Amino acid sequence: MRPPVEPFYAMEISRLAHRLKAEGRSILHMEFGQPSTGAPTGAIEVAHRVLDRDPMGYWDSPDLQAALSGLYKRRYGLVIDPKRFILTCGASPALVAALASNFMPRDKVVTARPGYVAYRNTLKALHLTPVEIPCGPSTHFQLAAKHLEEMEEAPAGVIVASPANPTGSIIAREELSRIAAICREREILLISDEIYHGLSYGEPAETMLAFAPKSYVIGSFSKYFSMVAWRLGWLLVPEGEMERVRAFSANMFLTAPSLSQHAGVAALDSEDELEGHVAVYRRNRELLLEALPKLGLTKFAPPDGAFYIYADVRHLTDDSMAFCKELLIATGIAAAPGIDFDPIDGRYFIRLSFAVSTAEVEEAITRLKTWFASRTD
Ligand SMILES: Cc1ncc(COP(=O)(O)O)c(C=O)c1O
Repeated sequence: MRPPVEPFYAMEISRLAHRLKAEGRSILHMEFGQPSTGAPTGAIEVAHRVLDRDPMGYWDSPDLQAALSGLYKRRYGLVIDPKRFILTCGASPALVAALASNFMPRDKVVTARPGYVAYRNTLKALHLTPVEIPCGPSTHFQLAAKHLEEMEEAPAGVIVASPANPTGSIIAREELSRIAAICREREILLISDEIYHGLSYGEPAETMLAFAPKSYVIGSFSKYFSMVAWRLGWLLVPEGEMERVRAFSANMFLTAPSLSQHAGVAALDSEDELEGHVAVYRRNRELLLEALPKLGLTKFAPPDGAFYIYADVRHLTDDSMAFCKELLIATGIAAAPGIDFDPIDGRYFIRLSFAVSTAEVEEAITRLKTWFASRTD
């Protein structure tokens, strides 16, 4: 028997979008969670210089580890030993390393539903048991301490994500602290996916490390730093666990790309430019939150951060995949179907990424208005 692999439905939407584009249609790509901007200018300049003079090889950049430690001091006021950062090819291998180095086959790991599709699939691929907890409006579409309290048998681990994908919702500081306390009490290993930190529209997201120093924290250059294709991220490992986890990570992935590590140091020093992107997302979010209710889309998960709107479309469909195809063919707007994030209730939701230009968001709103008007005629 071979392990089943679940499809990534947004890919199918994206393939259709590219086919339509090749046929001459104008397409607005809002299906993937990736900034439409490139890497910061300083990062690109450094990369050019390095390419010209450095043959490069397997490498862990001490400068990047030090610069990440600086980021944690700036953002959260925490002093972190730079050696605790394991540099990875994005958040994805950081998640694999955290899971593989801490759990045994069949161990139960809790995640929120809706949640990032790779959690479920990675857990299954590692022969772990995902336990998806339905999280709706009553808990801000997020895991809460009470979910872990109520479980008869404590799971081996839990993955929290704040801001989350697909919802953008943020877990409040007090709740993070309660989650940390229950995990301590019930000996549940905490993995905190903080890939969307830096992208919040109210209070900034707090790191789980502030409450649970023994948690594993995942970060990446893919989102705030606008460097998704550079495949660079990190796993911040608790004190005393470094050598063990580094051994896992090195066996599975060797090192992160050297060129990206050089560029990453410059990216960490590019806050002005990156805050410019956040200002664009903020404006895009405002425009969508103003326009969508006028089209009858009134129910969303709270989009506190990241760059997504996870909208409830149950009054229009019970098949989000068919709905996304129809939307794409009619308007040229590519969106992700909720079934990517929630195998049960996702059929009632779509996710729109607003990490595009404001002109594209304005165009999307105009097309949606026309489409919705024609549907109600
Ligand atoms: C919540 C979450 N975690 C991890 C990842 C993987 O990101 P990376 O590109 O750093 O591997 C993503 C990508 O969309 C994500 O949304």
